[in-house]
Amino acid sequence: MSLYQYDVLVIGSGAAGLTLALQLDSSLRVALLSKSTLNEGCTLYAQGGIAAVLDPEDSIESHINDTLNAGDGLCDATVVRHTVEQAKRAIDGLIDSGVSFSHTDDNNPCSPLHLTQEGGHSNRRVIHAADATGNAIETTLAQQVSARENIDIFEHHIAIDLITRNKLDDSSSDERIMGAYILECNQEKVHIFQASHTVLATGGGSKVYLYTSNPDISTGDGIAMAWRAGCRIANMEFNQFHPTCLYHPQAKSFLVTEAVRGEGGKLQLPNHEPFMQRFDPREELAPRDIVARAIDHEMKRLGVEHLYLDLSFKTPEFIRQHFPMVESRLRSYGFDLCSEPIPVVPAAHYTCGGVITDLQGKTDLSGLYAVGEVAHTGLHGANRMASNSLLECLVFAKSAADAINSSPALAPLSVTIPAWDESRVTDSDEEVVVSHNWDELRRFMWDYVGIVRTTKRLERALRRIELLQSEINEYYSHFRISNNLLELRNLAQVAELIIHSALQRKESRGLHYTLDYPEKSSQASNTILSPDRPWSEN
Ligand code: FAD
Ligand code: SIN
Repeated sequence: MSLYQYDVLVIGSGAAGLTLALQLDSSLRVALLSKSTLNEGCTLYAQGGIAAVLDPEDSIESHINDTLNAGDGLCDATVVRHTVEQAKRAIDGLIDSGVSFSHTDDNNPCSPLHLTQEGGHSNRRVIHAADATGNAIETTLAQQVSARENIDIFEHHIAIDLITRNKLDDSSSDERIMGAYILECNQEKVHIFQASHTVLATGGGSKVYLYTSNPDISTGDGIAMAWRAGCRIANMEFNQFHPTCLYHPQAKSFLVTEAVRGEGGKLQLPNHEPFMQRFDPREELAPRDIVARAIDHEMKRLGVEHLYLDLSFKTPEFIRQHFPMVESRLRSYGFDLCSEPIPVVPAAHYTCGGVITDLQGKTDLSGLYAVGEVAHTGLHGANRMASNSLLECLVFAKSAADAINSSPALAPLSVTIPAWDESRVTDSDEEVVVSHNWDELRRFMWDYVGIVRTTKRLERALRRIELLQSEINEYYSHFRISNNLLELRNLAQVAELIIHSALQRKESRGLHYTLDYPEKSSQASNTILSPDRPWSEN
C-alpha cells in the first residue's frame, strides 16, 4: 500500500473532471483518476452537442424557458440562469483549447458555427462536432491534461470509498473529507490518496438498467460513495430514457442522436406510419420524457420489440455530412440510414438526480465537491433538456475550480489515516455470485423501475434490492475486493436510492410516471434523501 498526498484529488476524467483539473491553479498538485483508460466515459460517446445561445435570433431567456419547461417545475431558476449565462464563455474556452466544432461551411473556418436542433429547444442552439462532439472534447482536453506538469494521471485506479475525518477520529466533529481509498485495478493493491480537496466527477449510474446508452463505467460510484460518507442525494427517481437507441443484438448501447430528429427524422410504427402527432404538438422534438413514453406506449400497445426512425428522405450527401459517425456505425451493423428506417428502442441514458451541490459544486461535506452527471445542481429538474449536460459539466467545473483556487491552504492533519484492512478477507470462491447479482439487479430495475411505474412494481423491486444488498454486503466483508464487486455494491446502492425516491413521489412528473398517481400535483418538490434519516419523507 502507498500513501499519496495531493492538494486536489479529482476522481473521474470525463468532461467534468478534465475541465476542472485544467482550470486549477498550476501551483496545486493534482491527482486525476480514471477507473478505466483516461478517455473512457460517457463524454467520449456524446453525439448531439452542447447547448448555448450563439444565434442572434436566439436569446438567453429562451434557453432558460426551454430548460425550465423540460424540467417540469423542478429546476432551480437561479442555477438555470447561471448555467445558461455562462454557456458562451464555456464554448469559447473549448474553442481556445482547440476543440474543432462544425461550421455552416466546413471549408471555411470563419463561417459561423453550425447549430443543430434537439428536443425541447425552441431554437437551433446546439453546437457540435458533426455527430461525435464528445470525442472531440474528451480527446482534446485529455491531451492538454497529459501535458500539465502539476497533474498526475492514474488510469485503472478505482475509488472505493471517501475518507471522512470524524469517522477516523472520535473527538472530531469535523466531517471534512480527507481523500479516498483507491484500488489499483491491475495490481489489486489499495492505496490512500490524501487530499485537501476531493472532487467527484464520476458520471451517472444508468448502468443500473439492463438496456442503456451508457458505457460500462456508468455505475454511479460517486453517488454511492457520497451517500455512504454522509451527503444528501436528490431526485434519483428521474432517470432519463433516451428515445432512440439502435435495436440490434450486437449493438450494445449504440445511440442514434436526437439531432437526427432535429434535422427532420420521423419516428414510425412497424407499418411506417408516423405517430408522435398523437402525443405532443412538438411531435419528434418534444422533450425526451414525452417521446420515450410515447414509444414505450406504442411498443406495448402493439406488442413489438422496437419502432423505427426514418431519415431516408434526406439526400445521402446531407446524411453523411451531418451524421458521418452514426451512418458508418449503422452500416457496420447492416443498416443504411440513407435508404431505410432504422429500428430503435428507448434505453436508460442519464441520471438527473445525484449528490446535492451548490453553485460552486460544494457538497454537504467540507472538502468534497461533485461536478458533472454525478451532481444534482438543480439545473435539470424532473427532466434534462438535450445537450444541457455537457454544458453543466463545463460551467460547474469552472465554478468548482474557482472555489478551490481561492480556498486558504489547510492545516496539516492531526490524525493518521489507517491502511486498508484486508486481514479478515480471503479470495472469493464464488465469483459467479457477483455476475449473477449484476444481471439480476439490472433486469429487475428495467422490468419494475422503468419508463412506466406502479407502486406494486416498485415495492417488488424494493424487496429484491434489500435481499441483494444483504448478500452483497456479506460478500464484501468476506472476500477480497475487485472492480466488479465494487461496482455491483455501488449499483445496488444507486438502485436503492432510485426505488425509495420513486416510492416517495406520489405524482407523475417529468421522467417519473406512475399509473397509481398519473396526475401532477399542484406543488412541485424535490425528493431529498438524507443518510441521517434514510427513507423518511421530506
Ligand atoms: P463521464 O464522462 O461519464 O466520466 C466519468 C469518469 O469517472 C470516467 O473517467 C470514469 O472512469 C470515472 N470514474 C467513475 N467511477 C470511478 C471510480 N469509482 N473511481 C475512479 N474513476 C471513476 N450530453 C450532452 O450534453 N450532449 C450530448 O450530445 C450528449 N450525448 C450523449 C451520448 C451518449 C451515448 C451518452 C451516453 C451520453 C450523452 N450525453 C450528452 C450525456 C453526457 O455525455 C454526460 O452526461 C457527460 O459526458 C458526463 O460527463 P462526466 O464528466 O460527468 O462523466
Ligand atoms: C443525443 O445526441 O441525442 C444525446 C444528447 C444528450 O443526451 O444531451
